[in-house]
Amino acid sequence: MAILVTGGSGFIGSHTVVELQEAGYEVVVIDNLSNSTEKSLKRVEEITGKSVKFYKLDIRDREGLNELFEKEDIDSCIHFAGLKAVGESVAKPWEYYENNIGGTLTLVDVMRQHGVKNMIFSSSSTVYGDPDSVPVTEESPVKKCTNPYGSTKSMQETIFADIQHADPEWNIVLLRYFNPIGAHPSGKIGEDPNGIPNNLMPYITQVAVGKQPFLRVFGNDYPTPDGTGVRDYIHVVDLAKGHVKALERIKANCGLAVYNLGTGRGYSVLEIVKNFEEASGVKIPYEIQARRPGDIAENYSDASKAEREMGWKAEKGILEMCADSWNWQKNNPDGYGK
Ligand code: NAD
Ligand code: WQD
Repeated sequence: MAILVTGGSGFIGSHTVVELQEAGYEVVVIDNLSNSTEKSLKRVEEITGKSVKFYKLDIRDREGLNELFEKEDIDSCIHFAGLKAVGESVAKPWEYYENNIGGTLTLVDVMRQHGVKNMIFSSSSTVYGDPDSVPVTEESPVKKCTNPYGSTKSMQETIFADIQHADPEWNIVLLRYFNPIGAHPSGKIGEDPNGIPNNLMPYITQVAVGKQPFLRVFGNDYPTPDGTGVRDYIHVVDLAKGHVKALERIKANCGLAVYNLGTGRGYSVLEIVKNFEEASGVKIPYEIQARRPGDIAENYSDASKAEREMGWKAEKGILEMCADSWNWQKNNPDGYGK
């Protein structure tokens, strides 16, 4: 019995494949390579010493998915595949809904036709919108998202909840990731964004490696200790391990379960800069600029439910996150060279 990992050649997916293989699972990866390269899976094989079964396949390809489920003995699906750039989603809402929602509906339909009703889904802390208070728990209200990308996450959570309510044979775990950063300590896999990074850490590492002149700090007038945005950064390896734990909830026939995957600690932009400089020994020049539209002041998790129910807790601290991010970028200045 194998675990199907959609979007498995991507940033979080590739790290999760490492942990799944090291936990003894057989893995089948599908990805349309719209935002990644198969090179990441070759690096995974270098790390684990185990081959990764990969199919270049789009989750919207019903015929291709049917052939896959007929050929492979799939027990559960970990569903990473999707478009995830907030700004791009504002400019291209149709593409985001068609890819993320349409693709998920096709995937789920093919799964159920083959009697596969175990799903772990990549959700996001973005579903909490601008929280009324922090830390946020899984009972904190899900709010209207400020961008189509975030709306696709909220909508998919609703779709999964409705499907599981209608057919209790489904076991569905919704994992709400906070801000994943870092990279596998080997430095062989990591985050490899297309073009100019939107996210903070890949931008910082590009400044450190000389691809960007300085960091733009988007606002220092937020109601936070130093005025810059506060987020719950979590090491991508801790996040990946959370998926191995989530499979145990599936095996326990959990029905529908929702978990925050965060550290429970928030760091500001300037605190990240300071910790990155300490971890890397590289000075990060920055310039305070205007707030980025759609940004919120503060968001961090209460992740105690995942610890109680899955026995999962983030273990890696901010210095290790920064050091591993730098180690990846230093050793791969052009990422995978997509
Ligand atoms: P990523 O872009 O590295 O990985 C997503 C993968 O999905 C890519 O390899 C891409 O090629 C693939 N893909 C996209 N559309 C596809 C399709 N139609 N068919 C097949 N493959 C397709 O992004 P990531 O950072 O690894 O994120 C993985 C998941 O986690 C996404 O669903 C994302 O929304 C979610 N998430 C990410 C973050 C974050 O900050 N990185 C935070 C919360 C949630
Ligand atoms: C973090 C902080 C910025 C870049 C986004 C998505 C979310 C999820 C994670 C997919 C903020 C500041 C950033 C820069 C900066 N992705 N910043 N200069 O916005 O919390 O979340 O990625 O699910 O859905 O919204 O992450 O890394 O973009 O920003 O000052 O060049 O860093 O203002 O305070 P964010 P981020």
